[in-house]
Parts: sequence; structure tokens; C-alpha cells
Amino acid sequence: MTVTRQSSNIQSFYKLVQQFAGLTDDELNALRVGGLSFDRAERMVENVVGVFPIPLGIATNFLINNKDYLVPMAIEEPSVVAAASHAAKMARQTGGFIAESTEPIMIGQVQIVNCPDPHGVEKSVLREKKELIELANKQDPMLVSKGGGARDLRVRILPTLAGTMVVAELLVDCRDAMGANTVNTMAEALAQRLEKITGGKVRLRIISNLADKRLARARVLIPKKALGGEEVVDGIVEAYAFAAADPYRCATHNKGVMNGVTAVCLATGNDTRAIEAGAHAYCARNGNYSPLTTWKKDKNGDLQGWIEIPIAAGVIGGITAVHPIAKVSLKILGVRSAKELGEVMASVGLAQNLAALRALAAEGIQRGHMSLHARNIAAMAGADGKEVDHIARIMVEEHAIRLDRAKELLSQRSHN
Ligand code: MEV
Repeated sequence: MTVTRQSSNIQSFYKLVQQFAGLTDDELNALRVGGLSFDRAERMVENVVGVFPIPLGIATNFLINNKDYLVPMAIEEPSVVAAASHAAKMARQTGGFIAESTEPIMIGQVQIVNCPDPHGVEKSVLREKKELIELANKQDPMLVSKGGGARDLRVRILPTLAGTMVVAELLVDCRDAMGANTVNTMAEALAQRLEKITGGKVRLRIISNLADKRLARARVLIPKKALGGEEVVDGIVEAYAFAAADPYRCATHNKGVMNGVTAVCLATGNDTRAIEAGAHAYCARNGNYSPLTTWKKDKNGDLQGWIEIPIAAGVIGGITAVHPIAKVSLKILGVRSAKELGEVMASVGLAQNLAALRALAAEGIQRGHMSLHARNIAAMAGADGKEVDHIARIMVEEHAIRLDRAKELLSQRSHN
């Protein structure tokens, strides 16, 4: 491979990441080659025919609760990593992101149908709450020894299309795990006892992905000057107001937030579908689909932003310890707990949303996208190495980022 300016930059970026995170050469190599062997993949899911690599980028400039982070992001979309880094740079001027979170409580649901007296059973179930919690905790002594475990039990009476149901909900402190396995096992363990108490039939026993007891929050203050003036602040506040008023815009607004959250989630080997489901359900919890973030102008004309999002993610268990890249990503991130990981994800989501709204409110989103998009088109046309940048640059200058133009430029080059 010829060493271009870009590849030498990449070498020094590797070194920087290695030094920052204290990575071994093996860990660095795992990043380079993509890490997941066929054997490991086969142990993860069924009918494996290969692995599907996507880029792992590192977002820079993140200062969260006065700690510096390099943030691994696994994502195929151009501009996301750069946008997050850019927003984090603006945030640094005023101390970065301030984040906090609730305890890592997940909810396990047990559905009980055909109760002879659905409205009367609540008391009977709650009378045995202590024993039921003890029974749940017997399923995971390790979690209990780490300070986690089932904390509470609540009962909801649910009118449904199939009649009135009783739902017993176990609240479990999952500590540093995402917790799905533990919570499901605990919910299953309660089934027999609950049938006996209620006289009904237990059907589903499963975690809820609406993790509204496991919330991460982050806030940020961006000086108007960093954004390009008060006009841009107004544009961002108006963009937020648009999302708050309209579900069509709100879905896209939240998609922008999740570009950041999901990329960190995937990079760290967490369950992206769980986080997505939880986030969108949380936005609709009051019956009105609403933005995950809030933006306001303060009395100085600067921009204030908040995010509150359920984050069911872990730093142990699942594939976090099995997938070699997830392990390295967690090391680069340097988080000590699932709570800290959630706070980073919330901050990245807020940064991502800020970057998108700033670009949309100012120059529009396409300018940032175009150079990477042009590089992709050049590569699709068959360009290689330095040719990619050259052809991409011409197409951007000409505002003609098309495959036919890339092919034309490539053939002109080969004839010269
Ligand atoms: C694109 O992946 C995300 C955006 O559409 C988000 C937004 O519109 O806020 C740019």
C-alpha cells in the first residue's frame, strides 16, 4: 500500500488512540482486521455464512462530567462521526456535557390472564411481595452479590382486547449488565407462584424495553459565537419547536439523536434494537410522540440543550465480553460502569442532534455529506487510492456527484 498523506494521518491517529486507551498491539490489530472470526460468529447466531463489517470511527473532543473520552462509533453513514466530534468541540468551550443517570433498573413483566377476580388480586400478590422478590433473587446470586437484584414488585390491572389482565412487574437493578437474561429468568421463576396466588394463567414472562426506570440525562451550553451567531441559535430552537409540534419531523429529529446513541451501542456490543425501541416508546409515553432533546435560548442568546433517554446497555454480559471489537471499544471508551456508558451515550445523542440541527438551520445537511458521498461514488466507479480523492474533489466542485461523471473522469485520467 502506498503511504498517502491520509494513511500517515491514520497511523498517527491509531497511535493516539492506542496511547490514550492503553491498547496492546493485539487489541490494535483486532481493530484493524475487524476482529470477529467465523467461529465466534457461529457461536453467536444460527446459520452463519459470514460476518458483516461496518466502519468503526472514533469521535473526538468529548468532555463529559470533566472527563475526556474518545468515543467508538460503529456506523455506515457518512458524516456522523465528524458531526459528533464537531459538536463536542463546540461544547468543550463551556465545560462539555454534564450527565447523570438513575439506577440501572429494568422491568420484567409477567402477564396473567383468566384471573377469576382481576381487580381483587393486587392485594394478594403484594401480600407476598417479599417472598416473590426473594424467589427472583435466588435466580442470580452473582448479581445480588454485586449489589443488584430484584428491588420491587408492582401490579397493574390492564383492560385489553382479550379481557382484563393482571400484569405483575418486577423491578430489577441490573448493575453493569443490560440485564435481559437475568430479568427474563426471574420473571419465569415467578410464574408458578403467581398462578397460585391469582388463580389465573401466566402467559408472557419477559423484560420490557420501555426502560423508563433506567434513564440517562445530559445537558450542554453552547455559546452563540461557536454556532455562528444568534440567528443559528434561533434556527435550532425553531427546529426543536418543529419537532415538538410534528411527528413527521420528530421521527427524523430523534433519528438524528439515535445516529449517535446507536453507533456507540453497536460499537460496545450492546443491543441496538432494545435501545431504539426503548427510546421511541419513551418519546410516546404521554400519548404524544415527542423529541428526545430540548433546545432553548438563554438570556445571553446562547443555546441550552438537554436530553433524557432510557439506556438499557451493559458493560458486562451479552457480547460485550465475547466480541473482540466490543471489548476494545469499551477499553477505548474507558467507562467503569453501565451507568457511565449510558451517560456517554446520552451525551453523544445530544451532540449528534446539535450537529444535525446546526447544519440544517445554517448551511443545510448536504454540504457535509457530499465529500464522503463523492468519495463513495468515485470508489464505485472503480477509482483507487489517490484517484478517489481527486475525482471526488472535482465532482464536489462541479456539484455533479454522479456515477456517470465519476466514470467519465476516471477514463479521462487513464487516457492522460
Ligand atoms: C440523518 O441521518 C439525520 C438527520 O436527518 C437528522 C435531522 O434531520 O435532525 C440529519
